[in-house]
Formats: sequence, C-alpha cells, structure tokens
Amino acid sequence: MRTQVAIVGAGPAGLLLGALLAKAGIDNVILEQRSGAYVLGRIRAGVLEQICVDLLDEAGAGARLHREGLVDDGFVLVFGGQAHRIDLAGLTGKRVVVYGQTEVTRDLMDLRAASGLTTVYEAEDVALHELDGSRPWVSYRKDGVLVRLDCDFVAGCDGFHGVSRASIPKDRIETFEKVYPFGWLGLLADVPPVSHEIVYANHERGFALASLRSPTRSRYYVQCPLDDKVEQWSDDAFWAEFRARLPASLAERLVTGPSIEKSIAPLRSFVAEPMRYGRLFLAGDAAHIVPPTGAKGLNLAAGDVGLLAQAMAEFYRGSEAGIDDYSRRALARVWKAERFSWWFTTMMHKFPENGPFGARMQLAELEYLMSSRAMQTAVAENYVGLPL
Ligand code: APR
Ligand code: PHB
Repeated sequence: MRTQVAIVGAGPAGLLLGALLAKAGIDNVILEQRSGAYVLGRIRAGVLEQICVDLLDEAGAGARLHREGLVDDGFVLVFGGQAHRIDLAGLTGKRVVVYGQTEVTRDLMDLRAASGLTTVYEAEDVALHELDGSRPWVSYRKDGVLVRLDCDFVAGCDGFHGVSRASIPKDRIETFEKVYPFGWLGLLADVPPVSHEIVYANHERGFALASLRSPTRSRYYVQCPLDDKVEQWSDDAFWAEFRARLPASLAERLVTGPSIEKSIAPLRSFVAEPMRYGRLFLAGDAAHIVPPTGAKGLNLAAGDVGLLAQAMAEFYRGSEAGIDDYSRRALARVWKAERFSWWFTTMMHKFPENGPFGARMQLAELEYLMSSRAMQTAVAENYVGLPL
C-alpha cells in the first residue's frame, strides 16, 4: 500500500491528525493495534481548552460537543475546609468545555468512518522502517497477512507504550521523568454532579476531585496509595472517603450510587526530546505524559497534531520550515503544560514525606493565590490553555 502519512494509533491524537490532514487534502492511513470498541472503552478525562475545541471544529468533529458539552466559566479550589472559586472567564475572557475524551474519540471515529479513509484496526506487529531516509515505510500483520505501507511520513500517535518512540535510536532521544508516590482512584456513576464546576480539594486525608460528564453523570477521584488495588475499594468505601474530603457545603449535597466504572491510575510527568526522528514525528502521549491534575493530556495531544498537520500541509506546498520547527514549537508548549500540571499536583496532593512544614507551604501558597489577582490570572491562563 502507499499513502502520504502513515499514522500509528487511533487515540485522539491519531484520529484528530488524520481528520486535519484529510481537510488539507493529504492522504493518510491509521494503524491501530486494538479494536475500535476497545479504544472507545477507555475512560479518560474530559476538560477541553478552546484551542482543542477549535481544532475539533476545524476537523469537522465539533458539532456534538457544542450540543452536549458543558461550558464552565470557572473551577473551585478547596483547602482549609473552604471552597474558593477561580473565575476563568473574568480573569482571561476564556472558558473550558467539559466533554469526555471518550466522546471526542467517538466523534472522531464516526467522522473517519464517514470519510472513507483507511483505518486498520487490530493491526499487529506494527514496525517502522528507514525513518532516517526520505522513503520510510511501515509493516504490519492483518489477519495473518504481512502488509507493507510506503509513505512520506510516519506520525507516532501510539501513546506511552507504543512502538514509535521505541523505534528511535537511544542516542537520538532524551527523556525526562517524574513518578508521583500515589495514584488516583476514579469512579464514574450516574448520579447528579455535586457541582456544575470542577472541584479540586486539598485535604489532610488526601486529594479529591469532583468532575462531571453530564447533568446526570459524575466522575470523581480520590488520591490513593500507589499499591492499592481497585478490588480493595468497594463503592461504599469510595463514597465514604470522597465525602470526607469535601467541604461540608458540598458533602451535604453529595448523591451517591453504584459505580459504572472504577479504576486506579498512576501519576507521572514524562517528556521525550526531540519529538522527531527523520521522517517520524511523535505526538501526544507517545512523546509526553502529564499528571491528570490539570487535565492537559488531551489538550496537549490536540495542540501537537494541530502544529503537525500545519507543518505537513506546508511541506506539500513546498516548504520544510514547518516540519523542521515542529519539535521545538511543540516542546515549548509541552514544557509549560508540564510545569503547570506538576505545580497543580504539588499544591493539591498529600505528600507525607514533606511533613507538616510541606503541608503549611501548600496552604500558604494557596492562601497567597486567593489573595492575588495576578497569581489567579496566571493559574487561569494555564488552565484555559496556552497559545500554540
Ligand atoms: N501499534 C498500533 N497501535 C498502537 C501501538 C502499536 N504498537 N501501541 C499503541 N497503539 C495505540 C493504542 O492502542 C491507542 O489506541 O495507540 C493509541 C494511543 O492512544 P492514546 O494512548 O489515547 O494516546 P493519544 O492519542 O496521544 O491521546 C492522549 O490520551 O491518555 C490520554 O491523558 C491522555 O488525554 C491524553 C490522551
Ligand atoms: C475528568 O473529568 O475526568 C477530569 C477533570 C479535571 C481534571 C482531571 C480529570 O483535572
């Protein structure tokens, strides 16, 4: 087979890149190791920056998010048992849209299915070849048949555990990592959200997060030990712990119910540099991971493919300036989001190893934040999304 861009991975990064390239008239094929149903079954975060919404609109996948997404003008921080609101719209003139990543992936999949472009699900043994020349190719096995896909570019959108970053020679890539000493236990339930705005709670028992998917579906998280197993947490145990970490004003409004989904995720900060090796370009989780505290994962992936689609369109118009500058531009934004996600995680979670002094430092910084319009503006700017 032959295409212009071979995309590895049908997560939000790969699907959005495929749609933006199609808009620019650039042929592309997506190779995904899992089934479509599996990809859709993954429960992930759901806060979209304006830039992400704009890119989904540009790709032609924004209609449902405008109908069903919940626009939020602000979010709430809880510390010292009190709730404090960050007025995103008032401080930046911008808002965020609460719309599940699963729904974004579904909209992009539907768009792709309607586009007639090739997507190979359950593509096994994807391997990348001759990336450092001008004629790279990808091989994979489908239904036992070995297939060769010739292309001009390979886009590595295959996540943290994918084959793309692993295909770059060790001496041509540098990685930076921080692993946090706790995880997030997440629960999804068809109960009315305790707050229509997202609530982040710093509590002596640990962090808690109240988010939502719709007026009737809630997504909640509590900080938990890294070695906890989800089986150890009954729904009742979750509700008791979650309620204990909310301020009284919210706890009294909490409606509980049976969980639809419950899972534990580790927290990590990770960046790989550069995000290019020859004709291979990395985007999304293949190149970087953020702790979910700032809800930056999906938005960073969208930003990457927005830049990459632009750069590749420029290439087919005769200029290599964009592809040569892609890694620098993407990393400039990635590191700022890494910093914000690390700062937010450090401010809102319990770090026993930092002791009582560490806990007081958190409270002092949060107190200063709520007393300073300048710092609130800085936090709001990062939360609504930094420019591309
Ligand atoms: N061959 C083909 N496909 C692969 C391979 C491989 N060797 N390895 C992984 N994949 C597929 C995975 O099955 C997955 O569907 O690549 C896809 C990567 O998708 P994501 O992990 O969702 O990564 P990305 O598209 O970059 O989205 C980033 O996802 O994890 C969240 O918080 C993160 O919101 C962020 C977003
Ligand atoms: C979510 O809705 O799952 C969510 C919201 C905000 C975050 C992280 C996750 O910071």
